[in-house]
Amino acid sequence: MKNFEFYVPSDILFGRDQEKNLPEKLKSYGKKILLTYGGGSIKRSGLYDKLLTLLKDFEIFELSGIEPNPRVSTVNKGADICKKEGIDMILAVGGGSTIDCSKAIAAGAYYDGDAWDLVTGKAPIENAIPLAVVLTLAATGSEMDCAAVISNEATEEKLLMGHPLLLPRVSVLNPENTFSVPAYQTASGAADMMSHILESYFDQEEAFVPDAISEGLLRAVIKYAPIALKDPENYEARAQLMWTSSLALNGLVTTGKNFMWSCHYIEHELSAHYDITHGAGLAMLTPKWMRYVLSDATVDKFYTYAVNVWGVTPAEDKFAVANAGIDATEKFFKSIGLPMTLAEFNIDDSRFEEMAAKAVEVGYLKGAYVPLDEKDVAEILRMCM
Ligand code: NZQ
Ligand code: ZN
Repeated sequence: MKNFEFYVPSDILFGRDQEKNLPEKLKSYGKKILLTYGGGSIKRSGLYDKLLTLLKDFEIFELSGIEPNPRVSTVNKGADICKKEGIDMILAVGGGSTIDCSKAIAAGAYYDGDAWDLVTGKAPIENAIPLAVVLTLAATGSEMDCAAVISNEATEEKLLMGHPLLLPRVSVLNPENTFSVPAYQTASGAADMMSHILESYFDQEEAFVPDAISEGLLRAVIKYAPIALKDPENYEARAQLMWTSSLALNGLVTTGKNFMWSCHYIEHELSAHYDITHGAGLAMLTPKWMRYVLSDATVDKFYTYAVNVWGVTPAEDKFAVANAGIDATEKFFKSIGLPMTLAEFNIDDSRFEEMAAKAVEVGYLKGAYVPLDEKDVAEILRMCM
């Protein structure tokens, strides 16, 4: 187990009607709030009206239309509003895209130039407007982490930025706000949180405690995602998924580990080039990556995964057990309605080499659980055809 620091000072307000505590929580930050949201789901659900009523004593400015896989052009638009209006706080209401875009806006508000410089690291993040969140989709964990993933439509890049200043100060996690999430997004969110856990679970560093937590969280998604899909207003299922999404990426399951991921960087290339749904791309890639990296060196870990997460019966043939766990993973993603091939996303092999090279470079994949080079990544993509 490696040394670590675990410091995640987000104030989490979990449960029904927790929005009502926002005015009290936000008042110390100032009067001017930039309310950010996506394509309109919060208006259809009634959450928008509810929040405006609750925040009647604040001065509200708005940035709407934040797109899935949020773009740097939208970040720059938001940063301009913050500079012009002297915004005190940003309230992001939505899923990972709205939250990530808002994090980049929060930093961009203190930068004179294209916010892309902050994403690439060309310019350091020196300050950020405080951010509060009302989460409406359980998936990315952005509600309780320091990261944001931003796309640049001009360069077809999708990159991760991170800084402690981007951590939400307050996050409202009311499972009822996810009742309206469509089935495909619910399933993609489930796959995303499972992937966050798996990326850390399969790590060169052994760490019993975070791995035991990981196995429990994975079992929670496996149990509750099908319930939420069948019965979208099942509070308990939505609640378990929502809390799992936060715990999967707030640093808890990576404590004492290397934090060197594999599948995410490959998926980010797919969504940068083809604008696909992040979690769905991960669901397709993950079982293929598992099959690709299964070897004498990794079989013990895959064996433990199969037994502890999927309940595969222990047996002498370690590879048979490990493969049964991988098969169960793929079968599960399929059963919740996610595509398992690139053809289903209308993606051909014409850009595999280009995407593979970028994923290896951006993700430092040569240092991953099983080191991957360009040829390996292209092969994993080929396995998805
Ligand atoms: O835009 P609206 O109208 O709100 O609709 C959204 C959007 O179309 C809809 N939706 C959200 N909540 C809803 C709802 N529809 C009905 N009812 C609700 N309650 O769902 C669609 C997808 O939303 P989006 O925010 O894009 O989904 P998600 O939360 O999966 O976020 C994905 C983005 O986060 C990044 C991904 O790469 C992707 O860009 N990630 C961020 C991470 C982080 N910050 O730590 C880590 C992740 O690994 C990930 O990379
Ligand atoms: Zn993810």
